[in-house]
Amino acid sequence: MLNLTNISTSYGPTQVLDGISINVEEGELITLIGSNGAGKTTTLRVISGLQKVQGGNVTLLGENIENKAAEDIVRKGIAHVPEGRRVFPGLTVRENLELGTIAWRTKGKQSYEEELEKVYHLFPKLKQRDNQLGWSMSGGEQQMVAIGRALMAKPKVLLLDEPSLGLSPVLVDQVFNALEEIKKQGITILLVEQNASMALEIADRGYVIAHGKIVLEDQASNLMSNPEVKAAYLGG
Ligand SMILES: Nc1ncnc2c1ncn2[C@@H]1O[C@H](COP(=O)(O)OP(=O)(O)OP(=O)(O)O)[C@@H](O)[C@H]1O
Ligand SMILES: [Mg+2]
Repeated sequence: MLNLTNISTSYGPTQVLDGISINVEEGELITLIGSNGAGKTTTLRVISGLQKVQGGNVTLLGENIENKAAEDIVRKGIAHVPEGRRVFPGLTVRENLELGTIAWRTKGKQSYEEELEKVYHLFPKLKQRDNQLGWSMSGGEQQMVAIGRALMAKPKVLLLDEPSLGLSPVLVDQVFNALEEIKKQGITILLVEQNASMALEIADRGYVIAHGKIVLEDQASNLMSNPEVKAAYLGG
């Protein structure tokens, strides 16, 4: 479905991705784990066209998409939930969600009620609050809006950057349950997480990135019992 082959990229003179390769099959939930500054966010930004590559290829269903414009990549079916949520504070929940449909809806023509209902089914709280302004939503609710908005784009692949960051354990559980539900709907997921143990619990396979290189890749269950992974990312 989504393939990164030998991707390299830099910020100015500093190389941050050094030949990384990741392969995500249709319907898989893949997690990318690694320490602060390892290059996880940069990897997602490369996929969604926000960061140019100096070398290597990204393909979606066999088509090269590296260095394409971010709008084109959304239209091709990749939606990105960035680090830090980015809900529009002055727009209501419903208006925030509606923004996700821009990728496919020609003005006023197609209805997006069906997508909206799917998102409300996944996050019932958003339905209750659909007229509430973005700024007044709690951190967890904002994360739901951000994920919901990405789903409104009808993506084939969903990229998520640290969806659990700053959330209480109860909300983290809700978000992870939602990710499992999204996977069941057939959407392919690439999940970046600091909370490696929870990510590995729901993932099929995982990749470990360190200093801009992939240092390990395996079935999630194998990574969970790998002593090096345990020591470095799972708190021993
Ligand atoms: N806009 C930028 N300009 C210069 N350097 C950057 C920029 N963005 C990121 N970097 C550097 O690139 C490296 C990788 O950053 P990246 O954000 O991809 O890491 P990360 O794995 O997502 O980390 P975290 O877990 O802290 O979110 C870091 O050393 C970071 O300081
Ligand atoms: Mg990051």
